[in-house]
Amino acid sequence: MTVLSATALNDPALPWRVQVVEEIGSTSDALREAALAGEDAGLVLFAESQTAGRGRRQNRWLAPKGKDLMFSLLLRPEAATALWPRVTTLAALAICRAIEDELPLWPRIKWPNDVYVHDRKVAGLLAEAVTTSSGLMLVLGIGLNVNTRDFPPDLSDTATSLLSAVQPLPQLLLERESLARAILQQLHRQLSRIEEGFHEAISEVRERSWLLGRQIRATVDGREIFGRALDLDQEGHLIMALPDGSITPLSSAESVRQVV
Ligand code: BTN
Repeated sequence: MTVLSATALNDPALPWRVQVVEEIGSTSDALREAALAGEDAGLVLFAESQTAGRGRRQNRWLAPKGKDLMFSLLLRPEAATALWPRVTTLAALAICRAIEDELPLWPRIKWPNDVYVHDRKVAGLLAEAVTTSSGLMLVLGIGLNVNTRDFPPDLSDTATSLLSAVQPLPQLLLERESLARAILQQLHRQLSRIEEGFHEAISEVRERSWLLGRQIRATVDGREIFGRALDLDQEGHLIMALPDGSITPLSSAESVRQVV
């Protein structure tokens, strides 16, 4: 197993200070604590393994040691905080673009927080605000299934990895380091579009949207909404057509499932 090297991931052309640890509870929890202790934006923490990895809605994020990419970034976006929800959209685009650059795959964004390959989840994003003594910051956690082949039974129908999607010779593993470098580059490029260039970014997100055109059931503030995913608006919000003919935008959702 090749281990990730902070030296290889630290690119002087990028604003990130990358650290790699072998094992940690959760990279997002660690960065939150670092932020509270005064750490500056730009720290990126990768872990080969997490003992308390978290997903959205109190889900656990499980991944075998050394096979995938699990990391968090400490951010203070240079834009009004009202625009910070754009970070998740831009980060999802960054992950897609990096995968496209590195592999013969066409990943899709499943609004609002997931990346899909071949109709299955390959990556999840978790953006969490943290109030520090120097102001508000954002911890962006990313889990990307790279080389995992076996998923727990409850995920085996809905999750995949990049390795399973490209299906090279069975004994080969995908090289995580070049993928991680590509993601860090793309994150810098895409996150710089939080103000100028965001509407063009939304066109690129729309081209990669997994949801558009599908009948879906979304849970928003505990309430179920059923309808067809029509489009993304200029803010990246999902525009839904409801069965009564009305149209409603959703700015976020706890869960979104396709209805078949
Ligand atoms: C989701 O799909 O629900 C979001 C998953 C986010 C998982 C990543 S792995 C690195 C970082 N540390 C965590 O504890 N969670 C995020």
